Amino acid sequence: MFRPVIIAGGVGTRLWPLSREKYPKQFLALGDSENTLFQDTLLRLNGLEHSRPLIICNEEHRFIAAEQLRQIEVHDAQILLEPIGRNTAPAITLAALKAIERGDDPILCVLPADHVIGDERAFHVAIEQAQVLAKKNHLVTFGIIPTRAETGYGYIKKGKPHARYAYKVDSFVEKPTLELAQKYLDSSQYYWNSGMFMFKASRYLHEIKHHQPKIYHACQHALEQQKLDLDFIRINDKAFAACPSNSIDYAVMEQTKYGVVLPLDASWSDVGEFSALWNISSRDVNGNVVKGDVKTLDTQNTLILSEHKLATTIGVQDLVIINTKDALLVAHKAHTQKVKEMVNQLQLEN
Ligand code: GDD
Ligand code: MG
Repeated sequence: MFRPVIIAGGVGTRLWPLSREKYPKQFLALGDSENTLFQDTLLRLNGLEHSRPLIICNEEHRFIAAEQLRQIEVHDAQILLEPIGRNTAPAITLAALKAIERGDDPILCVLPADHVIGDERAFHVAIEQAQVLAKKNHLVTFGIIPTRAETGYGYIKKGKPHARYAYKVDSFVEKPTLELAQKYLDSSQYYWNSGMFMFKASRYLHEIKHHQPKIYHACQHALEQQKLDLDFIRINDKAFAACPSNSIDYAVMEQTKYGVVLPLDASWSDVGEFSALWNISSRDVNGNVVKGDVKTLDTQNTLILSEHKLATTIGVQDLVIINTKDALLVAHKAHTQKVKEMVNQLQLEN
């Protein structure tokens, strides 16, 4: 038995203009699923024995989250609202503190709300195995075999074999430089961090208190003054504003001695940017992914989404074309990581 903790407070900048601050990617149906990424994160748990899910998201998205839960008939989830985003370490600290409130110490299964997992069965097997390790006080990460020198992920160096199916974490490096990422890839000693974790609430709290006491105390104060607003749990704004911003990867996983990595081969993708979206979607005979009102001629390996008007292409390859009501993006598929740069520039100009 474990408690799912769904972290759904990110903004998904690299999927702009599809993903917006007011309606970020986790709340969109991307790829082939008719459900949103957030909904699939919960539906993927069907068949596993777990207690009521705990959702941590930004207060701005509370009605979207609640409505999407209702649509998939998840009626028992708790939704804890953050007044501002302070990244994943504080979000998970709030969740862990909330989970131990009544004297329990559940195993938490931390799941980002924006992943696609093709092989559900393999995912279930990994969760069951991870539970056994988490019970023994380990911080379990799920390792994906790297296929490229990706700088947007954490890299886990595997140490000694542990409990038949896992390895001790020898070292954990969050978002390395391209040079290092290439070195790690070539060595075959590293996994990508999938961003999913499993541990006892008390084990995580012990680590965050030890390595990041300011985060621990700020979250404790913010939660001490929690209030119920409709079905939502609100925390104290001022106390949380004082919390440093950091991710679990830098704050805990790079520091801890208790990490173990469980290999996961489940067709995982974090749909971080448009080339990943193209990769996970069904393509036509020309390798195109099209959604909406689209007509193509002599076009290959292109992703085209058009929401409000007819979009047509002739004689192009390897493009990403995202046509929304108020913004149009045309990019080469090899450069979609740079969407973030574009969004930053737009923000500076406004
Ligand atoms: N509640 C809450 N609050 N959730 C957040 C916040 C926050 O302030 N910030 C991010 N999240 C959620 C996002 O919605 C997403 O589901 C998850 O936490 C991870 O955040 P990302 O911002 O997407 O992280 P990342 O992709 O840069 O890196 C992480 O994931 C990679 C794999 O996808 C790291 O864990 C990497 O090590 C990992 O490789
Ligand atoms: Mg991500």
